[in-house]
Amino acid sequence: MIRLQGISKVYNRGKNNSFQALSGITAEVKDGEMIAVIGKSGAGKSTLLHILACIDSYDSGEYLLDGILIKKLSERKLAQIRNEKIGMVMQDFALVEDFTALENVMLPLDFAAKKKSNRKQLALNALQSVGMADYAKKPVNQMSGGQKQRVAIARAIVNEPSVILADEPTGALDSKTAAEIMEVLKALNRTGTTIIIVTHDKSIAQQCGRIIEIADGSLVSDS
Ligand SMILES: Nc1ncnc2c1ncn2[C@@H]1O[C@H](COP(=O)(O)OP(=O)(O)O)[C@@H](O)[C@H]1O
Ligand SMILES: [Mg+2]
Repeated sequence: MIRLQGISKVYNRGKNNSFQALSGITAEVKDGEMIAVIGKSGAGKSTLLHILACIDSYDSGEYLLDGILIKKLSERKLAQIRNEKIGMVMQDFALVEDFTALENVMLPLDFAAKKKSNRKQLALNALQSVGMADYAKKPVNQMSGGQKQRVAIARAIVNEPSVILADEPTGALDSKTAAEIMEVLKALNRTGTTIIIVTHDKSIAQQCGRIIEIADGSLVSDS
């Protein structure tokens, strides 16, 4: 469960190039929701996603993730929360290109605080659930965009996060492949994973149960 109460974010605070990227964002996300975040380029969508992912800090307001106040935590604690609770999927996949699919998916397990003994099997299970088990040994740099995004989703889910945050996950894909990736995300949502997708694409947004619109750093609609 995510609770945002009056979240504001200023880049370059106190400098002459300071910029208010988010102003007073208040929203609640229940476990198991599938939400699209839409808005024009520069509206603050990625900033919001980075705050949700505990990658970026905020300046005022409160963010509670599963009851934990995400503020002034040590970098070590934040890394642990990210690793355990959050899976990230990016437009450009952000994979290690010369690693195999399996090696990429095992990476978050290597960073986990609680080391698991069956890491390879867990990674294979994640690849299986996105339809990529047969490609486990293939280097990512020999894959299509759609295959790479499936591997990136497998990497995002290997630690069984409660939330998947996806920033324009279909932005680099043709429409047929984008539809396939949306089916993978919807299937994960049906198993109970909360999914938040930043997108420019109306047809992607309409497949989500809820659409939040951001304009100039403010929440302008939530339906
Ligand atoms: N690291 C940064 N430093 C300064 N300004 C930034 C930084 N990141 C983003 N911004 C600015 O904040 C605004 C919102 O950016 P962003 O959240 O990336 O928008 P969106 O994802 O909706 O396109 C933009 O005007 C952008 O230029
Ligand atoms: Mg963005």
